Amino acid sequence: MKIFFINGPNINMLGIREPEIYGGGSYRELVSFIEKTCAAEGAECDIFQSNCEGAIVDKIQQAYKNADAIVINPAAYTHTSVAILDALKAVALPTVEVHLSDVKNRESFRRVSYTGQACEKTITGLGFEGYRQAVLYLKELICGA
Ligand code: DQA
Repeated sequence: MKIFFINGPNINMLGIREPEIYGGGSYRELVSFIEKTCAAEGAECDIFQSNCEGAIVDKIQQAYKNADAIVINPAAYTHTSVAILDALKAVALPTVEVHLSDVKNRESFRRVSYTGQACEKTITGLGFEGYRQAVLYLKELICGA
């Protein structure tokens, strides 16, 4: 099982940006957490981050025939991007949306998710652990274990 992990704008600033909301762990630490999780669950991973909407669309398109599933944290694009929603619909892979923070209990604009409409599941407010929960969910869905 190969999973593409796609992270949107400002996720590279983890550890620096609003640690009281996103936690103190850095992006490097998140990458290492995802790599360890995938190794433990027998999954292959490709981890990507971009601040550019088009680059995220390109990466989602690259997942077509190259990945079995996607875990995406579209960050601010969650709440605005029809282009990312359309890309996810186009490749039609099992996808889980992850948010480090509890978006349901923040500003009202964060309660709207365009991208979530193309996702099997959305996990919020668990920090790095949300990415692990996404892997476990996809493993169960794809491998039945
Ligand atoms: C986020 C939540 C978004 O609302 C925000 O714009 C982000 C990060 C999260 O992981 O909690 O950049 O996706």
